[in-house]
Amino acid sequence: CGIVGYIGTEDAKEILLRGLEKLEYRGYDSAGIAIANDKGVHVYKEKGRIASLRDAVDTSEESVVGIGHTRWATHGVPSQLNAHPHQSASARFTIVHNGVIENYEQLRREFLQNVEMVSDTDTEIIVQLVDTFVKDGMSTEEAFRKTLSKLEGSYATALIDNEDRDTIYVGKNKSPLLIGLADGVNVIASDAMAMLQVTNEFMEIEDQEIVIVTRKNVTVKKLDGEGVTRDSYIAELDSTDIEKGTYPHFMLKEIDEQPFVIRNIITKYKDDDDNIKLEESIRQTVADADRIYIIAAGTSYHSGLVGKEMIEKIANIPVETHIASEFLYNMPLLSKKPLFIFISQSGETADLRGVLVNVKKLGHPSLTITNVPGSTLSREADFTLHTYGGPEIAVASTKAYTAQMAVMVILAVDAARARGVEIDFDPLQELGIVANAMEIFTNQKEVLEEVARDYLSVSRNCFFIGRSMDYYVCLEGALKLKEISYIQAEGFAGGELKHGTIALIEEGTPVIGLATQSDVNLNIRGNMKEVVARGAYPCFISMEGCEHEEDKIVMPAVHKFLTPLVSVLPMQLIAYYAALHRGCDVDKPRNLAKSVTVE
Ligand code: G6P
Repeated sequence: CGIVGYIGTEDAKEILLRGLEKLEYRGYDSAGIAIANDKGVHVYKEKGRIASLRDAVDTSEESVVGIGHTRWATHGVPSQLNAHPHQSASARFTIVHNGVIENYEQLRREFLQNVEMVSDTDTEIIVQLVDTFVKDGMSTEEAFRKTLSKLEGSYATALIDNEDRDTIYVGKNKSPLLIGLADGVNVIASDAMAMLQVTNEFMEIEDQEIVIVTRKNVTVKKLDGEGVTRDSYIAELDSTDIEKGTYPHFMLKEIDEQPFVIRNIITKYKDDDDNIKLEESIRQTVADADRIYIIAAGTSYHSGLVGKEMIEKIANIPVETHIASEFLYNMPLLSKKPLFIFISQSGETADLRGVLVNVKKLGHPSLTITNVPGSTLSREADFTLHTYGGPEIAVASTKAYTAQMAVMVILAVDAARARGVEIDFDPLQELGIVANAMEIFTNQKEVLEEVARDYLSVSRNCFFIGRSMDYYVCLEGALKLKEISYIQAEGFAGGELKHGTIALIEEGTPVIGLATQSDVNLNIRGNMKEVVARGAYPCFISMEGCEHEEDKIVMPAVHKFLTPLVSVLPMQLIAYYAALHRGCDVDKPRNLAKSVTVE
């Protein structure tokens, strides 16, 4: 979910709606705004996209204060009733909230026996508690602080009081939230992008702090009421980075940006003598680790699997890659000197943050590899490496994935050198070759559009098979296709398919094989023959040096550790065109959100 707030002199409705449009990547099940004017507080909310909300808002109602929310459902189905904002029984208080309140049942029993709940959400608890405490005689600020101190879980929340419509009360714990500052105007946003339309000066809020926001003042306090001083910073974001330009979809734009992102990474990680530029403390921490634990989710987990291969094979350090939500409650035995690497495009994924909090308690070093340097995981880890991808807006991640792997190969080579491991491989030069190879695909989209049409127009499922490094890319290729085209797709290790899943192969089932690794080239081709013998419709993507005559797509040769950075492009484009041909909403697939800030 994402939240926004505005208090200033201009039309709040429009600024909130535009802000929510920029936050739609965080969820788009339902959305709502509350605006305040001299007549009171007016709430508009709708199931579905911001566009539906826009249609529902009464444009004649003027206002210069308001809060808004776009939802990715956790408690309660997506519906108008469960959409935010929520109001207290007396309708005095109105709230928006991103996060999950874990103890809401308990709080309801303890404090709200006599209050009738309107929605199925955990959020309503917050606003009803504030109302109850105010009725007991507290001021709004005191009631807000007391309420937040009772909450367990995560929240980024904004509240307005119908009896003081020139103040927004803001609170934060674990969920991201920023305050934007301008002259006579202050704003609230889950992500700076939402409010770049108003300002580029922002202030961070820490967990368990509240902020009292008026037109002229921003007052930060701890939950016990103690004042806090906080500096602001200028967000280095260009609002044109978050526009589609002439592209029909952000996903296509972001696929095309990959060669530039890789070249950008080369520049940022190169010193004046063309050597790797990395902080000495990071180098030492990585080189000193006896084992690295990579923690990630979704697409970033898939890049973590490739990262494991790179670091183990190049730097000779054992690596385990784990799904964050599993690691959080089922931690393996740790080595004596572990290093934790968190890979996250957004830097906000709650599952990862849970692990980071535990790792810090255990006193182990942590490094975040992220596309958003000011994000929670970046701020809270000991070290950060930036992937320099520029904002990624499409829900299906593309350029962040390849950028993460590019940074990991640089890290691996740097660690190898620091450990005295001999290597004859210049990652910066090899990444340059990768960027050129990527362009072959971004310039030949028609071929991939044709493959998508031929293989995936009517099929209900699809398999991706590969071995070693290629297997990991198959997992990502399958995820891309599932996410945006809703075709059931699975990535399989070529040799494993015959141990069960081959039962699903029928006449005409598309099977996409990846063959970029010379040492297993004949094996994967053998595995494809097994499925073809059972009716599969095969499509090989291979690399120069491994190619066979029947291959549909042959990519230019790149270093064997870097093949995933290139071989994933045809898969991204096949998924894109398959979704397009099926009339799916490419940038905002159903049920998903780009940044998942709940566990
Ligand atoms: C969400 C997104 C995925 C993403 C995952 C991890 O589920 O829909 O595309 O890979 O979160 O996100 P992160 O920002 O931590 O890389």
